[in-house]
Amino acid sequence: MPLLIKNGRIITASEDMQADIRIDGEVITAIGRNLPEDGCEVIDANGLLVMPGGIDPHVHLDMPFMGTSSSDSYETGTRAALHGGTTMVIDFILQKQGNSLKDALTEWQGRANNNCVGDYSFHMAVTDYNDETKKEIAHFVDNEGITSFKTFMAYKGALMIDDRQMIGLMEEVKRCGGLVTVHATNGDMIDYLVARHRSEGKRAPIYHYLSQPEVTEAEASERFAAMSRYTGCPGYIVHLTCEGALNAVREAAKCNQHVFVETCIQYLLLDASLYEQDFDGAKWVMSPPLREKKDQETLWAGINQGLVNVVATDHCPFKWEQKLMGKDDFSKIPNGHPAIEHRYELLFSEGVNGGRITANKFVEVACTNPAKIFGMFPRKGTIGIGSDADIVLFDPNEEHTISVNDHHMNVDYSAYEGRKLKGRVKTVVLRGQVAIDKNECRLQKGYGQFIKRSKVTDHI
Ligand code: URP
Ligand code: ZN
Ligand code: ZN
Repeated sequence: MPLLIKNGRIITASEDMQADIRIDGEVITAIGRNLPEDGCEVIDANGLLVMPGGIDPHVHLDMPFMGTSSSDSYETGTRAALHGGTTMVIDFILQKQGNSLKDALTEWQGRANNNCVGDYSFHMAVTDYNDETKKEIAHFVDNEGITSFKTFMAYKGALMIDDRQMIGLMEEVKRCGGLVTVHATNGDMIDYLVARHRSEGKRAPIYHYLSQPEVTEAEASERFAAMSRYTGCPGYIVHLTCEGALNAVREAAKCNQHVFVETCIQYLLLDASLYEQDFDGAKWVMSPPLREKKDQETLWAGINQGLVNVVATDHCPFKWEQKLMGKDDFSKIPNGHPAIEHRYELLFSEGVNGGRITANKFVEVACTNPAKIFGMFPRKGTIGIGSDADIVLFDPNEEHTISVNDHHMNVDYSAYEGRKLKGRVKTVVLRGQVAIDKNECRLQKGYGQFIKRSKVTDHI
């Protein structure tokens, strides 16, 4: 039966209008005032905002990492995302050093396929670039619909590639029409500081933060931007946290270059004072670490200046017993925090209701830009005729409080416990099906589809 969403206020990245939406099958077929109801299931959106489903392009589900695995499966993670208004995620495949990209794809498909509730895609993390890997890149872009290649300038011995590999990869990815994304921190500097702190007996979570000062990120961001300029390959910096790194991107813009920037919700809202407690600070041990208040100001300004294009989560949850792996040594605390469920509401509450960004800008950075940059627009990331009907009905005034007691992520604490929000997801539609209603998920695992992505452009 067709679905009709009536009387809502539709917000996209560029529009703000009162209109109805008709959905036939999986796609939007009409937008207009007073659309006829005949034969439709009607959802009344009176008093609600009607916005595109969120796209979180940086999550790690069921990922082997630091001697354990992130605690959300593809089922629990994508279901929690839907509860929070995020209808699609992009997860990361990690190539094992010495193995092929194809082997890694097969391994990740084994965990993800038929297990997702919401839609998903993968970035391919290239951790070992060599003559054999080079031959595989075109296949991923042309046949697998995986057009973004993730690199790490840190985590030496496990994930990091050197600059020689980075330039080679960039040349090949540019030739094939893809995008190189990067975890931009100076791995050698960090490893040196970690070793120094450990040898001095400094083992508490705060030394994780003190081992990754701002300069480690600013330097790597500048170096990545230079390599992107030299090769002409479109670049995207993930989880950018600080003023120094954003200034490197600003310099790149002065050279007429565009490096896309993603920050994450935690870097906008939380700061490094959280590490000034005993082991509890492990909840926020992530890389890069939380920064200073001045960095939050820079990031909010960067969003409004169009320098920061995307707000993601880097959702990488670990249960408390997993965090305890590092109780005597900060360098053994699995890096990452849970947020997939809260990004949409937190960003609206603090950003739009907090007077920092407009509702259009909210949609741009939470939905539309991820779709554009990663080759899914206009199928995803907007409300338009012919687009997938991925829609969130949102009450901008309802107040609620985040708690581990009622979140849906598979983790036994909340990194935002007790935080009060204004603005709440009420109903979520994914490809024409009601996914979330009255806080219940109506879809089963397996509904979530792998979304093939197109070649990218270096402008949005
Ligand atoms: O701490 C983090 N960010 N964990 C996930 C891996 C990564 O670097 O994105
Ligand atoms: Zn990272
Ligand atoms: Zn990550």
